[in-house]
Amino acid sequence: FDVVDLIHVKRDRGVLSTEQINWLIDAYTRGFVADEQMSAMTMAIFLNGMERREIRDLTLAMIASGETMDFSGLSKKTTDKHSTGGVGDKITLPLAPLVASFGVAVPQLSGRGLGHTGGTLDKLESIPGWQANIGPARMREILEEVGAVICAAGSGLAPADGKLYSLRDITGTVEAIPLIASSIMSKKIAEGTSALVLDVKFGSGAFLKDIEQSRELARTMVELGVDAGVATSALLTNMNVPLGLAIGNANEVRESVEVLAGGGPSDVRALTVALAREMLAHAGLPDADVEAALGDGRAMDTWRAMITAQGGDPGAALPVPRETHVVMAPRSGVLVEQQALPFGIAAWRLGAGRARKQDPVQHAAGIDLHAKPGDLVTEGQPLFTLNTDEPERFARAIEALDGAYRIGDAGDDIVTGGPLIAERIG
Ligand code: URA
Repeated sequence: FDVVDLIHVKRDRGVLSTEQINWLIDAYTRGFVADEQMSAMTMAIFLNGMERREIRDLTLAMIASGETMDFSGLSKKTTDKHSTGGVGDKITLPLAPLVASFGVAVPQLSGRGLGHTGGTLDKLESIPGWQANIGPARMREILEEVGAVICAAGSGLAPADGKLYSLRDITGTVEAIPLIASSIMSKKIAEGTSALVLDVKFGSGAFLKDIEQSRELARTMVELGVDAGVATSALLTNMNVPLGLAIGNANEVRESVEVLAGGGPSDVRALTVALAREMLAHAGLPDADVEAALGDGRAMDTWRAMITAQGGDPGAALPVPRETHVVMAPRSGVLVEQQALPFGIAAWRLGAGRARKQDPVQHAAGIDLHAKPGDLVTEGQPLFTLNTDEPERFARAIEALDGAYRIGDAGDDIVTGGPLIAERIG
């Protein structure tokens, strides 16, 4: 094939054949199709979309670009979860050990944060000694012994996606449903899990804001999973308000440990429990008493074993920030609004996230919220605390928070954009 002909097909709203898609992804992975040609193609896909068959072919071609993992020899069933990312979304941390405490294996290959949404590996790396990079052999051992592993995906899984994602990131073509769905599902299918639960976010802090689009993404991914023989379902969940009270890295680990100890903020707990039930249902345990495992220390024991297995010290003190800045309530009333996106951007500017892939993150940077929408507040009480190691970062973080929260009066509408868990798909 000639890549320019294929670009013409998509540019003119045509449909690519299976052979054309296979050729394109293989040639791009091997460097025979140039980045500028692939950028034209991703923009054409962004503008003109793809049919279901094309999306499936694209996903399979990306899986075929690299290695696949196989956990079928394991003595336990495997089930995984993927979130499309949000602000304060630390759910993987309590969820993986909680599910594993029921004898199910959770092979969670995670990423690092880019932009305002955090990365699970960045959070866990705030635990002294903890290692994200373990090989597949060690991963298997930990899955047998402990049940839960959260680690970095090797570059061998769906390398076409790695290349394509970096390109989309700098060409304004990230937010296309065929590209997002094939990107996420190629990695998850290549990882070899037999079941998958998707936490698809909508709202201001999500990467597709609109619930219609999130629903379409969820449906597309569930179909891709089921077609590939992976039992897949999705929850559409609300990302208009930050999840929990901690946004950052070390503080999110702290909050996760509270949930594992049977406490923690009610939204983090509720979402952890709902996703655990979904995952366990796929593993044949629809009646598992998930709340009990959080209450009686079973989930916490699995967390400690999981952290220890990857070199971490679950009892070690977590990093604390060098500088803090407390923002007080300017008046008494009810906190009626707290927007996820600006709080995510502020945490990022404080150093919790990175601007470029190669940048380090500050483990102690981020934001601790002291009130959630609906809470009564009194003038002068702390509303939230900004944390960083570099005080020159405060000004730009505070700038991001201009208009991000509002104190109203009793009886005013609380702006949350709907329930935490809006729909189940699958
Ligand atoms: N996460 C991914 O892995 N890929 C995308 O395209 C978007 C989010």
